[in-house]
Amino acid sequence: MYSQKVMDHFTNPRNVGEIPDADGVGEVGNPRCGDIMKIFIKVDGDIITDVKFQTFGCAAAIATSSMATELIKGKTLDEALAITNKTVADALDGLPAIKMHCSVLAEDGLRAAIEDYKRKMGLITEDEMAKPHEHIHDCADDEAANG
Ligand code: FES
Repeated sequence: MYSQKVMDHFTNPRNVGEIPDADGVGEVGNPRCGDIMKIFIKVDGDIITDVKFQTFGCAAAIATSSMATELIKGKTLDEALAITNKTVADALDGLPAIKMHCSVLAEDGLRAAIEDYKRKMGLITEDEMAKPHEHIHDCADDEAANG
């Protein structure tokens, strides 16, 4: 059901861990399934120089988190913001349709970390921070439907 790339990033996730002196931290979660992603970024000028993540979630959530960190390292903040959950899923050679929603966790986490950085730098206000996707997906039902 999963591509080889998904299995690779699930069994050998890249950039796992935390950055104690991170410039931006994003944490997003799903209250229904309890899956949580926390992402830490270091920024130099406009470039994301380092990134680490911790994801407590399903295989698709971990694989997409891992791939998302690979995609944004060395990118500018704007380039990173242009990355969507579909970009990440495509880079993994796709996800089963029933697991596409899991990839939103990585996109939202990434955005939250960048916005946290911008807020700390005084580049945006609390009010200007984007709301996470309205993607309170029903993981429990998905998992059940998935067997
Ligand atoms: Fe909740 Fe995958 S993110 S089941």
